[in-house]
Amino acid sequence: MAEPGKTKFQIDLRRHLRETGVNDNLTHLICEIAEASKYIINSIRTGDLGVAGTSNLYGEQQLALDVLADRILRKRLDHSQVVANMMSEEMDEIIPISPDCDGKYSVAFDPLDGSSLVDVNLAVGTIISIFEGCDLLLPGRHQAAAMYILYGPRTTLVYSVGDGVHEFGMNNLMEYTLLRESITIESKGNLYSPGGQRNLYTPGVEAFVSNLEERGVKLRYSGGFVPDINQVLLKGNGIFFYPHLQNQPNGKLRLLFELNPMAFLIEQAGGAASNGYQRILDLQAEQIHDRAPVFIGCKEDVALAEEFIRTLDNAQPQPEAKKTRKRASAS
Ligand code: F6P
Repeated sequence: MAEPGKTKFQIDLRRHLRETGVNDNLTHLICEIAEASKYIINSIRTGDLGVAGTSNLYGEQQLALDVLADRILRKRLDHSQVVANMMSEEMDEIIPISPDCDGKYSVAFDPLDGSSLVDVNLAVGTIISIFEGCDLLLPGRHQAAAMYILYGPRTTLVYSVGDGVHEFGMNNLMEYTLLRESITIESKGNLYSPGGQRNLYTPGVEAFVSNLEERGVKLRYSGGFVPDINQVLLKGNGIFFYPHLQNQPNGKLRLLFELNPMAFLIEQAGGAASNGYQRILDLQAEQIHDRAPVFIGCKEDVALAEEFIRTLDNAQPQPEAKKTRKRASAS
């Protein structure tokens, strides 16, 4: 992609999108989200931890950082002129922006995933799922694009429009420039990132973990979905899972805000994502805050998890009987 004589580090996000052949509206949308992330990272860096209900040095009321990140993104998307509908992990309903769906996109986002990790200075991220037109409740395989922004020691942005997965880094001018293009992951990994309490694992998941341990696979878990997925993607190997638990048959993570976009990205890198029985991108959401178990990463490791689960656990996760409402506290 880099022109002769120019290093790939000079390719910024907009140019990369244009050169990849992404249409003007989608390019504009992705760049607007990238712009919003600059304000979010600034709030994370400078905020007094953003604990809701407290005041800052000037006696002004503070917003929790996840609420602030949500407002920043919503405002940007609202004014972008290319969004039909949006929904946020922070909200209970779809927010209509324009009744005209033609040439527009609908966006589901988790503005600050893992926000409870901010006060212990661990990495957090923004996750975005983009569909063409008005519909946001389609299976994830219909996504037009997916991306995340990771606020770690460096700020990075990873996106895919279905043509590979590409990583950008924020430079000292707060511009995103290309770091790695067409990232791929191996078919079998040597690290695992296990969510959920182990004493609540089902026999299938427990046997899967024991198998990984016997193989000498290393445990690497930060507790933040974005950095944990980023690790699998950029190391090019490993598996993240937040499984069905004995007391939580649908696990914890949300299908529309967390799993669909990450499954899209990992599949684009040559990996796989499953709920233990079925491809994540084929799941049909019933409601906006539906959750699902997830096993995501190297293809062979995901297939092995499915095999243990099919053999030792007998029930497919059922749609939640009573849908979980958005909790008030940080994610
Ligand atoms: O969904 C929010 C989140 O913080 C994810 O970022 C992370 O993977 C998961 O929850 C961690 O859950 P737990 O606190 O149960 O380990």
